Amino acid sequence: MGARARYETADLNEPLTMVPSASADVVVASLVLHYVADWGPLLAELRRCLKPGGVTVTVQMYRRPVSAVFTSLLEAGFLIDAVEEPQPTPGMEDTKLAEILRAQPGVFVRAGGALVSCA
Ligand SMILES: C[S@@+](CC[C@H](N)C(=O)[O-])C[C@H]1O[C@@H](n2cnc3c(N)ncnc32)[C@H](O)[C@@H]1O
Repeated sequence: MGARARYETADLNEPLTMVPSASADVVVASLVLHYVADWGPLLAELRRCLKPGGVTVTVQMYRRPVSAVFTSLLEAGFLIDAVEEPQPTPGMEDTKLAEILRAQPGVFVRAGGALVSCA
């Protein structure tokens, strides 16, 4: 990424004031949403940051009802356009991860902001 990337740290419970509105092509929230109790303000912030047509990718473990994942995204105005539930691959070397994936599968969600901008 070089000079095209700028790194910031922030508490996701607070507004992302360092990110201008409609400035991000992609938001990736990997294994972090489950640390935030109230997703409403955070998802509203992520949607604010996205350019029209931008997408958000979340990698989420099931630590709350799966319906809460989708309802929160929909309530924030996202259009969910892909969902994946990864399973352990045959012969997976990391047996601990394979066990976790079998017992508590995660969900990958891709949600677009484009529809929201038009709403
Ligand atoms: C399971 S790790 C995931 C790290 C990385 N995103 C990944 O996919 O490998 C969870 C991360 O969320 C961060 N985190 C937890 N609560 C947070 C909060 N309120 N604001 C920002 N980051 C938070 C932790 O510091 C930790 O780095």
